[in-house]
Amino acid sequence: MHHFHRLDGALACEATPLADLAGAFGTPLYVYSTATLTRHYRVLADAFAGQRALIAYSVKANSNLAVIATLARLGAGADVVSAGELLRAVKSGIAPQKIVFSGVGKRDDELDAALAVGIHQFNVESEPELLRLAARAQAANLVAPIAFRVNPDVSAGGHAKISTGKAEDKFGIAWAAAPRLYALAASLPGVAPVAVDVHIGSQIGELQPFAAAFGKVLGLVEDLRRSGLAISRADLGGGLGIPYRDGDAPAHPDEYARMIADLTRGRDLEIILEPGRVIVGNAGVLLTRVIDVKHGESKTHVIVDAAMNDLMRPALYDAHHEIVPVRERAGAPQLCDIVGPICETTDRFAADRWLAPVEAGDLLAILSAGAYGAVMASSYNSRPLVAEAQVDGARFALTRRRPSLEALLADEIADPWIR
Ligand SMILES: Cc1ncc(COP(=O)(O)O)c(C=O)c1O
Repeated sequence: MHHFHRLDGALACEATPLADLAGAFGTPLYVYSTATLTRHYRVLADAFAGQRALIAYSVKANSNLAVIATLARLGAGADVVSAGELLRAVKSGIAPQKIVFSGVGKRDDELDAALAVGIHQFNVESEPELLRLAARAQAANLVAPIAFRVNPDVSAGGHAKISTGKAEDKFGIAWAAAPRLYALAASLPGVAPVAVDVHIGSQIGELQPFAAAFGKVLGLVEDLRRSGLAISRADLGGGLGIPYRDGDAPAHPDEYARMIADLTRGRDLEIILEPGRVIVGNAGVLLTRVIDVKHGESKTHVIVDAAMNDLMRPALYDAHHEIVPVRERAGAPQLCDIVGPICETTDRFAADRWLAPVEAGDLLAILSAGAYGAVMASSYNSRPLVAEAQVDGARFALTRRRPSLEALLADEIADPWIR
């Protein structure tokens, strides 16, 4: 459910025509809907009424400060994976006591930054990380609350490049090692094992793999409690999928949250979720303008001013995004490829797609681009980093400026040997 719809024939975000945003801020431009962010957060949060739950928004999905601040105002916590994301979360108004720190490789300086602000939990992914964290916390006279991210060896849908819960994956500690590592953690003065953490992958449409993994985690919580540990939280990660194409029907966030609430009710546990895509994915579109329409011998290429550097997902994962003209012209749809200007064959947003007729200057919206879109953008081809804007009803604002070409070069040193 999102708030992009047609108003007088033209695509709008909430009460704001997308053409107004393109006129004000130029293209390519990501546009995020406040109402959609709010709705998605609430669906998850409301399912846990009466239970202790922390919806720790996974900042990696979309780390725009205004997006995080919108969720912070609703009560969200944050799941961060770097010192940069930690800074973003804190700057956006999320209390450190609502922040969990995930990630396969956390540097010493990142552990120190998180210790210094006093975050809710470190999700530890290996024995060496445990030992480093414990030593650094002890040296600072602190006790770090930790979970181990356990690998439940569950195969989950999604895409091979974003599945993380199989035994051979690099993520988390082996299931069999958990009792020994929890006992080791309990013996170290710098850390307090308080939680079990799991995250099995992303863009998972069925509930069954989640239920299988969470069932194992809850069993482990009971085993650890029996061994005398005060485990008071279960962090169940993120990973719920969203519909990208017409006809996709992933499990509804409400069903997912109710499944978890049912599994965990009465267990005296704080439930932590780390949703990313399901909150922001359908809350954003990438707005782009047609540069040229090239009618070749075998197909038509619609060349737009967004490129793979602005939205990597099609090139990286063969991801599908619906693409629609902001204002549809009359006429028969044409079969076309929608491509960016970069000299790479993978710089293609859609192949063999039926699209209403378009002309140079028309605006297109690449839908469901709110998650893993702007965050993965680069300035490849010396294209300035893509700009971002947010809509709230009839008001809209730029939330990340497009850097000037001068700014793009500002940190480079043309001749480092000249004094
Ligand atoms: C540890 C962790 N938590 C949460 C997420 C968010 O996943 P998603 O955006 O699929 O909800 C990820 C992303 O893969 C992750 O690695």
